[in-house]
Amino acid sequence: MHIDILTLFPEMFAGVFEATIIGRARQAGQVSVALHNIRDYAPGKHRVTDDTPYGGGGGMIMKPEPIFNAVEAILGATVPEAGYRSLLAEGYPPIILLTPQGRLLKQPLARELASHHERLLLICGRYEGVDERVRLRLATDEVSIGDYVLSGGEIAAMVLVDVLTRLLPGVLGDAEATGKDSHSEGLLEHPHYTRPATFRGQSVPEILLSGHHANQVEWRRQQSLARTLARRPDLLAEAELSQADRAFLAGLLRDVSGGGVE
Ligand code: 6GU
Repeated sequence: MHIDILTLFPEMFAGVFEATIIGRARQAGQVSVALHNIRDYAPGKHRVTDDTPYGGGGGMIMKPEPIFNAVEAILGATVPEAGYRSLLAEGYPPIILLTPQGRLLKQPLARELASHHERLLLICGRYEGVDERVRLRLATDEVSIGDYVLSGGEIAAMVLVDVLTRLLPGVLGDAEATGKDSHSEGLLEHPHYTRPATFRGQSVPEILLSGHHANQVEWRRQQSLARTLARRPDLLAEAELSQADRAFLAGLLRDVSGGGVE
């Protein structure tokens, strides 16, 4: 997958994209990221990228021209009068505007983007906002990473790149496979333990030391279910649950003690 990122602050990305899984995937050629400074596409000696809003209201708004210029230069296409959206059918990549007004990023959206596209273009908004014509004629999607306000789309873009990269084929080894992640099945993860078996008087649950594989599989599933019920009951409505899962949850709900969830 290739990801173009349009930003006023390309230097923000360096550390994140060199470290951890993204760095490894870039080295391995499984993902490539190109950072483009919007300012380089702003006309005039001063390369102005923002201006005051028409009608007042304060703050600074990102101008449309540098962003349109950047997209056209990067993709080698002219944005049609009717808007960029019509170019999607010709194989041009989606243009995702990172904005708190966008569609909430959840694992299904990430899976959809990772599996259906070889290239994405991300636009990081800054200041109080982006000229509306960028939304209307350029962006094909708007994405938010949560219900809080960041001072710009850069950190959100890093989040999106991280989420997408670990979904790409071959990026994670079998051991780290994404199938069992929290949220991938719509449930939170079970607790994890590693050596030592007893640490400062706290012992690992007996079942994990027992070597009884089938019981351990059942234990992990039940811990996931119990945790999700305790912490994120909203997720259960969308989760894929077996008859056994439902029976276990029904048991927990009957049990006033909560089934031993910590
Ligand atoms: Cl994508 N941008 C900004 N500025 N704030 C956010 C966000 C994005 N997602 C959540 N908050």
